[in-house]
Amino acid sequence: KIEVDATKPLFPIQPTMYGIFFEDINFGADGGLYAELIKNRSFEFEYPWMGWKHIPEAETRFNTENELTIYNNSKTNPQNPRVVRVDIRNATKTIGLQNEGFDGIGFKKDAKYDFSAFVRSNKGNVNIEVQLLNEKDEIIGTAKASQSSISWGKVEAVLTANQTVQKGKVNVIFSEVGQIDIDLISLFPQDTWKGRKGGLRKDMVQLLADMKPGFVRFPGGCIVEGRTLAERYQWKKTVGKIEDRELLINRWNKEFSHRPAPDYYQTFGLGFYEYFLLSEDIGAEPLPILSCGLACQFNSSETTPLDELDPFVQDALDLVEFANGDINTKWGALRAEMGHPAPFNLKMIGIGNEQWGQEYFDRYELISKAFKVKYPNIKLVSGTGPGAEGELFEQAEKALPKLNAEIVDEHYYKDPKWFRDNANRYDKYDRNRYKIFAGEYAAQSHGVVNPDNKNNWECALSEAAFMTGLERNADVVYMTSYAPLFAHVNRWQWTPDLIWFDNLTSFGTANYYVQKLFANNPGTSTLPIKSNGENLTGQNEIYASSSFDEKTNEVIIKLVNISTEAKSIELDIKGLAKRASGRNIKIVESDLKKYNTIDQPNKITPSESLFTIEKGKSMLSLAPNSFQIFRIKK
Ligand code: AHR
Repeated sequence: KIEVDATKPLFPIQPTMYGIFFEDINFGADGGLYAELIKNRSFEFEYPWMGWKHIPEAETRFNTENELTIYNNSKTNPQNPRVVRVDIRNATKTIGLQNEGFDGIGFKKDAKYDFSAFVRSNKGNVNIEVQLLNEKDEIIGTAKASQSSISWGKVEAVLTANQTVQKGKVNVIFSEVGQIDIDLISLFPQDTWKGRKGGLRKDMVQLLADMKPGFVRFPGGCIVEGRTLAERYQWKKTVGKIEDRELLINRWNKEFSHRPAPDYYQTFGLGFYEYFLLSEDIGAEPLPILSCGLACQFNSSETTPLDELDPFVQDALDLVEFANGDINTKWGALRAEMGHPAPFNLKMIGIGNEQWGQEYFDRYELISKAFKVKYPNIKLVSGTGPGAEGELFEQAEKALPKLNAEIVDEHYYKDPKWFRDNANRYDKYDRNRYKIFAGEYAAQSHGVVNPDNKNNWECALSEAAFMTGLERNADVVYMTSYAPLFAHVNRWQWTPDLIWFDNLTSFGTANYYVQKLFANNPGTSTLPIKSNGENLTGQNEIYASSSFDEKTNEVIIKLVNISTEAKSIELDIKGLAKRASGRNIKIVESDLKKYNTIDQPNKITPSESLFTIEKGKSMLSLAPNSFQIFRIKK
């Protein structure tokens, strides 16, 4: 028998409870969410021709009178110095460039694509032919772009693809005798999220919007810290004009020797302004995480001395001005110039990602003191390091309350059993301490960062069991997010991940549907749900939480059965009308090893049916290996 008391709401569930964690890992941003199709568009990767081929190819090129070179324009454009120079002496011979995209380029039949580039020519005339190619190198779309001026200007053209192609390419062919300079060669689908020029992939943002997340944490993850301090994420370098944003090597470029990605860079076309906009678009609170002056402690012991921490403190304070400041302030004016005069209403900032030890506590203390003076209403998020148990974790648990930590980020990448065993984790937490942000977690089928990890139903169901514990303890747990969020099916560095994509489509894993069901059905306050007077944390392999939604006047019950047997239970809800009705949303899958794939993305998805209950009592049969939600009008 499971008893729910709908007459006794316990504590509020924060609107931020279920959110998303975004990091540019697994080609999540460049080559993923950020819809740019050209790789190395400004020739600033370590090797300038990465991603590009010469037309004709090198061996034959020397037989022509035409030439492609790269020169450095660091004086006038220090953030983006390299420029391609095309010398054309004989216009009857073809010369051009071919881009391979991130893993090839996806084109959709009849879709339109915006081409652009910055060009100049000593003769005053630039004529370019842009060609979209399929896998067989056949032209499937073409357009001409031109400009007549000797100074830098932008050429643009719109192309339509006449085929759907997963791994296409783009040719940029030059004609006209003379010397042409070209930079920032770009190609975007027109059909982006909200139709924004140079925007984000619509299918991928849609999956996020469908979750109705309470917050978006960005930009990571380890990329916040950098392998070295010089390679840390600096938000100020990611705002303003795209052409002025300085590229940075991605921290995940060489992380795993079995999957090196030497062509993994951050162009920051998706920068802090775009993250704020994305959060606003999908109705989520922005949660930026900033460097605290320590490089990634897994990679380096590089530490900024406390008396040299000012620039880090200032970056954090200036971010509040950028997000919320009046348009007459320096950073508020930049936000307005970029297109958003209204404030973004930033309420919280994370200081450091997954960092540990006294060196972290000292830096957190210094930065938090500055916030108390200038922005006492901004909530600060601190962290407990990489594990949610063990020595480093205990150190953090002792140190952070002394620093008046407000919200503390805990991470756990563990096997599925750990998640089931820890459904009671927060039942034991001190109610008088800081609040918890379960900021990165995922059940891993084959061990942490093992390439064989799969987003299988056992992992997802174990996370659902664990999440009932998060929800039941909503007085302590204020925010939660699965990690990582995105992965390209051919270009990932870390698995499992919540959403997978290729060049044309994306799909939600079983874990995604679990997250989505929690985030779509949170309720506004918790309700007691007990069996024999106890919380359900795995007795008889059942896990449960319950809440009340004051906006819809519904009682919400979440039940997880992780066993091979159906479970008969008597549900007894106090406080319902004589006859109450509602919906039963569930995922039932007997095979724990099953998972969704890009070719079969709907193997594990939720289904919904109507449900009625008389006098608050009902006999239920909980299917084996199932996650069920009941939403019942009170
Ligand atoms: O989510 C992948 C990585 O795991 C994050 O970058 C880091 O914070 C954690 O170690």
